[in-house]
Amino acid sequence: MVTPLTPVITEHWDRPDLYTLDGYRAVGGYQALDKALGSDPDDIITTVKDAGLRGRGGAGFPTGLKWSFVPQGDGKPHYLVVNADESEPGACKDIPIMMANPHALIEGVIITSFAIRANHAFIYIRGEVPNAVRKVEFAVKQAREAGLIGKNIKGSGFDLDVVVHSGAGAYICGEETALLDSLEGYRGQPRLKPPFPAVAGLYASPTVINNVETIANIPYIVDRGVEWFRGFGTEKSPGFKVFAVSGHVKRPGIYEVPLGITMRELLDYAGGMRDGSSVKFWLPGGSSVPMLTDEHLDLPLTYEAMAEAGTMLGTGTPMVFDQTVSVVKAVTRWLEFYKHESCGKCTPCREGTTWLERILSRIIAGHGRPSDMALLTEICENISPGIAWPPKQTTICPLGPSAVSPIASSIERFRNEFEDYITLSDRRVIPVGSA
Ligand SMILES: Cc1cc2nc3c(=O)[nH]c(=O)nc-3n(C[C@H](O)[C@H](O)[C@H](O)COP(=O)(O)O)c2cc1C
Ligand code: SF4
Repeated sequence: MVTPLTPVITEHWDRPDLYTLDGYRAVGGYQALDKALGSDPDDIITTVKDAGLRGRGGAGFPTGLKWSFVPQGDGKPHYLVVNADESEPGACKDIPIMMANPHALIEGVIITSFAIRANHAFIYIRGEVPNAVRKVEFAVKQAREAGLIGKNIKGSGFDLDVVVHSGAGAYICGEETALLDSLEGYRGQPRLKPPFPAVAGLYASPTVINNVETIANIPYIVDRGVEWFRGFGTEKSPGFKVFAVSGHVKRPGIYEVPLGITMRELLDYAGGMRDGSSVKFWLPGGSSVPMLTDEHLDLPLTYEAMAEAGTMLGTGTPMVFDQTVSVVKAVTRWLEFYKHESCGKCTPCREGTTWLERILSRIIAGHGRPSDMALLTEICENISPGIAWPPKQTTICPLGPSAVSPIASSIERFRNEFEDYITLSDRRVIPVGSA
């Protein structure tokens, strides 16, 4: 049986006016807000917990549980921060959501803020996408003018201000605590945890940080209920997901499907591989997760099945590569990215990503040495001891281990390609000082 598409967040994307308040209202928008404002905030947290929604920003942490960590009655201001920094290679689902359906995000922001008792919400958007910033700013303006944001929203006594903040283009600012530092006006570098943001986040106050897609799910869950949401997906990965498929497929794009669909089915939706081509390797969710091969195409795309296969669902943005791609070159390109984006706060990541990128570049330039395989592994070990999955880390944040995962998984699955490059190098004269 073919798993059907389940357009929910994406259902009305063919409406040119969906980004406006009128367009969103015409398809039932802001009904969930009425329902939410008429209920107890704790009941909304329970609903989201029972629905089993898991964060769509990469780690898959249960959303309702995260909200429940915010201490209530503590007398401190509470904050909601939406992580819209989407910068991972391959990830491209939050920006389309903000462009096509920004009011689903805004409605989710209002409901979530009400539930966690936050009177200030921030939407931190990747700086390189001014079109998305403008779309969300416009939606916030319209919502404010309609009395959906501001004082005493719809006579409920609940006040909320929403600030749209544009980042300055650093991948690390997607890491939640670096994002908070950046929002506070400091250089965006991850904080040591604990304390976790739910207890001491923005301005040292309780803060919930959630991904765009996570928050855009909220109005639909509140409106349609737990049973409806659990009707999709699996026990441990309930619901549907916006998958963004890229690479050597005929129709790269956004496909909203139930969790548990297989990559083979998703590939069919994406038109299959381009003519004459077959799957060599693929990554389920951005460049930070270990790669899989064609042997894994029939696994369900769920948090649990991907973990069992030694990878992660991540952002749910599969990149698919065919046999024309050198895995060594692809990994080198990702390492250039991680080296550039390492914030430099901790030594294993700052030095390790630089060394890894240099060695890989040397290998593809034809100057690899037989000892390079062991050297690559040793440096990976220094960042992520045991090179196991899920990773251990010697670093403050997961960016370091993220750089290790494409190298470790490609060496595991395509060791011969690295060795071929190095054997080829053996027949060349290695210039002095090429390390
Ligand atoms: C280097 C790095 C970059 C990240 N970038 C993003 C991002 O752009 N968007 C996002 O939602 N989460 C990103 N995350 C994950 C966040 O730290 C955090 O887990 C997430 O925003 C929580 O939201 P969720 O529970 O709704 O998934 C990143 C993590 C790391 C380590
Ligand atoms: S792991 Fe890398 S990016 Fe993360 S804090 Fe350390 S140096 Fe910065």
